[in-house]
Amino acid sequence: MVSKRGTFASRFGVVAAVGGSVVGLGNIWRFPYVAGENGGAVFIIIYICISLLVSVPIMLSEFSIGRSTKRNSMRAFNKLAPGTKWKFVGYLGILTAFVILAFYCVIAGWALEFLREALFNNFAGKTAEQITENFNMFVSSGWKPAIWTTVFIIASVAVVYAGVEKGIERYNKIFMPLFVVLLVGLMLYTLSLDGAKEGASFLLKPDFSKLTGRTFLNALGQSFFSMSLGMGAMITYGSYIKKEENMFRVAGMVAATDVFVAVLSGLVIFPAVFSFGISPTSGPELVFITLPNVFAQMGAGYIVSVIFFMLLFLAAITSSVSLIEVVTVYIYEEMRLSRRRAACYVGLGTFIMGMLSIISQLPGSSIKIGGQNLVSFFDHLSSNIMLPIGGLFIVIFTGWVFAPAKFKAELTSNFKYGVKIYPIVYFLIKFVAPVVITLLFLNLIGVI
Ligand code: TRP
Repeated sequence: MVSKRGTFASRFGVVAAVGGSVVGLGNIWRFPYVAGENGGAVFIIIYICISLLVSVPIMLSEFSIGRSTKRNSMRAFNKLAPGTKWKFVGYLGILTAFVILAFYCVIAGWALEFLREALFNNFAGKTAEQITENFNMFVSSGWKPAIWTTVFIIASVAVVYAGVEKGIERYNKIFMPLFVVLLVGLMLYTLSLDGAKEGASFLLKPDFSKLTGRTFLNALGQSFFSMSLGMGAMITYGSYIKKEENMFRVAGMVAATDVFVAVLSGLVIFPAVFSFGISPTSGPELVFITLPNVFAQMGAGYIVSVIFFMLLFLAAITSSVSLIEVVTVYIYEEMRLSRRRAACYVGLGTFIMGMLSIISQLPGSSIKIGGQNLVSFFDHLSSNIMLPIGGLFIVIFTGWVFAPAKFKAELTSNFKYGVKIYPIVYFLIKFVAPVVITLLFLNLIGVI
């Protein structure tokens, strides 16, 4: 049955849409700097293990919750466990969506400004100081980031406004393949630079002396963020997946793409960083300060910079669409507004949050939490606290509340797919994932 809510029409559409949500700033902007700060290769190994053992099972849980109920995430919990408090996991997800959108749209706005600068060939011939100065002036102007963030929000809302099949599915089917082609091209180019070896070995050769408990939590947070888990995005997209679809296959393809694109971005960025003698641990600015330096000195800097920032924008929009979609469906199903109206309201909420983040980055601004501006604060809060909490609830729900027979029938599409690996997945959901997340939290608060 195809309900009025909309479904993804084709398998490629499902993979493109889910892949579009998953592959985003998390892979290109966040992963390289987080990996750089956490020791490179060791971090990547842990990140891949956590993705397999914890994240993929959570993705399958979210898909099943969504597809079996075909509702927004709050209503989905309420339908599977009526009259209980589980629906608060749905509300937490809505809150998390705004916390993520609050900084996501700002960084995406930066990408647009840098795309403009790349198009005007602004990096060429600049010194490192000039490039840093340029970045700081841009951020502290306030109005420039505000304009680009607004442009980005309008573009994202427009896709959600157009609907599941005509908006989300259609644009992802165009943007995602374009993205992959551009990224592979870039990688081939940067790996041919001098110094590429050092960069590649920074990412591929483990140095275990950098390993602490926090490395694991950072890897978990990065993995959840990167795979869009823990806040109901995959519950919502899962609700658009057809009953006949093999969800193991979708999750497997998407997870592989996600890890692949993250590592690939690392392989684009670090060789370039090393070949121009820049420090790999430069935080959220890595992409925006160090890379323009690289572009300024590089032969083909013009075209490479245009492609790179174009990529960043494409990746960002297909992800922010999924965040906006989660809240939009909630509003239009629960408050009986049209999808279009609901999308506009969410855009407005996002705009307000984004402006707060931008104001908090102005020089001398008093909007700071724990000494951090809101962009860094929201970035940490969402990935390292809110998503793991949401993810923990989701696996506990799936493993211990969702009726096992019903869950199995849903996940295996009525015993058609993945019946053999189902017991392993169920074990990971019921025991491994909750234990791992709990241990990492206990470590965070200093209990272990
Ligand atoms: N996964 C996206 C990225 O890597 C961001 C994102 C989109 C997200 N939807 C999400 C993160 C839902 C957490 C939850 O950039």
